[in-house]
Amino acid sequence: MDKAQALIKKLKEKSARVSVLGLGYVGLPLAVVFAEAGFKVTGFDPVESKVESINRGKSYVLDIQDEQIHRLVKQGNLQATTDFAILEQMDAVSICVPTPLRKTGDPDLSFILSVSELLKQYIHPGIVVVLESTTYPGTTRELILPKLTEASGLEAGKDFFLAFSPERVDPGRKDWTTANTPKVIGGITPQCTEVASIWYEQAIQTIVRVSSTEVAEMTKLLENTFRMINIGLVNEMAIMSDRLGIDIWEVIKAAGTKPFGFMKFLPGPGLGGHCIPIDPLYLSWKLKALNYSARFIDLASEINTNMPRFTVGKVQDALNEQRKPLKGSKVLIIGVAYKPDIDDLRESPALDIIHLLREKGAKVSYHDPYFHQIIHEGLKMNSISDINAGVKTADCVVIVTNHSSYDYAAILKAATLIVDTRNALSEVGNGSPKVVKL
Ligand SMILES: NC(=O)c1ccc[n+]([C@@H]2O[C@H](COP(=O)([O-])OP(=O)(O)OC[C@H]3O[C@@H](n4cnc5c(N)ncnc54)[C@H](O)[C@@H]3O)[C@@H](O)[C@H]2O)c1
Repeated sequence: MDKAQALIKKLKEKSARVSVLGLGYVGLPLAVVFAEAGFKVTGFDPVESKVESINRGKSYVLDIQDEQIHRLVKQGNLQATTDFAILEQMDAVSICVPTPLRKTGDPDLSFILSVSELLKQYIHPGIVVVLESTTYPGTTRELILPKLTEASGLEAGKDFFLAFSPERVDPGRKDWTTANTPKVIGGITPQCTEVASIWYEQAIQTIVRVSSTEVAEMTKLLENTFRMINIGLVNEMAIMSDRLGIDIWEVIKAAGTKPFGFMKFLPGPGLGGHCIPIDPLYLSWKLKALNYSARFIDLASEINTNMPRFTVGKVQDALNEQRKPLKGSKVLIIGVAYKPDIDDLRESPALDIIHLLREKGAKVSYHDPYFHQIIHEGLKMNSISDINAGVKTADCVVIVTNHSSYDYAAILKAATLIVDTRNALSEVGNGSPKVVKL
């Protein structure tokens, strides 16, 4: 039996030992899905508190419940470690490390590079490695493959198997999860695609095989660039509607009645999260090296980046109407997470809005049930505990993130002035003169 057949047999029998490298928003749910499918999974993360938490049966990712981790750990299907040497015994490894941007706006591949340096020490025949971190097309073949082959002398597609599979998880979402969202997989060789797909098929409902790692990498970038550009477009429509004195939310609702050829996107105070504002910039960076300028991406990025400033302008104008200067006014931000009902602050436009308001001399406070404290670039604030009192005393309330737990009718009743960037008050009467919509 060749290496591929031997590994496929182990994967189908679930006797293959599985490891997930990087136990964050993506890696922990993936480790859980493999463990639920019956694999013995060892998660690796350099952060000791995460490893301890899992081994104690405690989840730190909102979509995963303590009971599930507790049960899987007790069954012996899930454990976590900070010891990379476990890779020596592994048959199947998924890489879910961060791929952020540097301060300069260039891709930061340091996590992928450091994980492949470590992997290089433990690569052995009969192992399958899948990269899940979002990155530019070419990363798996150009960066990871040489690290795994050069020192070991092993051949991809024959001795070991390497593939890319983009993570599509949408944190906070209940209908589409890691287990039932179709998973695209592309390998370095057809045999790599085959082995990786058979592994994932054991735990995930639908596998979509593509011809190469580059196609799989580019698929993710098409999906996220599509969202980023459409959000940029609708944000620009909001800015234009504002100039024209037209309610963009009414326009979107009306356009949404067209049964074909229109897809609804919503404007907002700016793009947040670890994916949509960042991933397309990986693509434009790669293209720059090939002397090509990704104009749609650059334009949408510029419009989206400007939305916090546009929001602050709305607050300033709204206060002005009430003969109040922004300087010295009490502004309460409601919701700081980058989207509703999640505990993720990464790239949240609320942070830019708070910085901009403070720069202009506003007395800023915030409320968010998911964040008792925020620390960001010299800023350290605590969430107010009594939202009703905060709303009552604020000169202006700004709804930045429309968490479903908020009582919007009560907010509307108690506030003097509200800037609603999410149309959160649509159900409770946003025709009120004290409400200014984006
Ligand atoms: N969060 C999302 O919604 C989402 C969705 C789709 C794709 N992605 C992509 O998935 C990847 C991971 O994102 P995330 O949100 O899970 O990030 P995260 O920051 O939540 O998790 C990454 C984990 O990797 C760990 N880590 C850091 N260095 C490591 C190393 N050398 N070895 C092993 N682990 C290491 C970190 O401690 C952390 O726990 C990124 O490329 C991201 O773009 C994220």
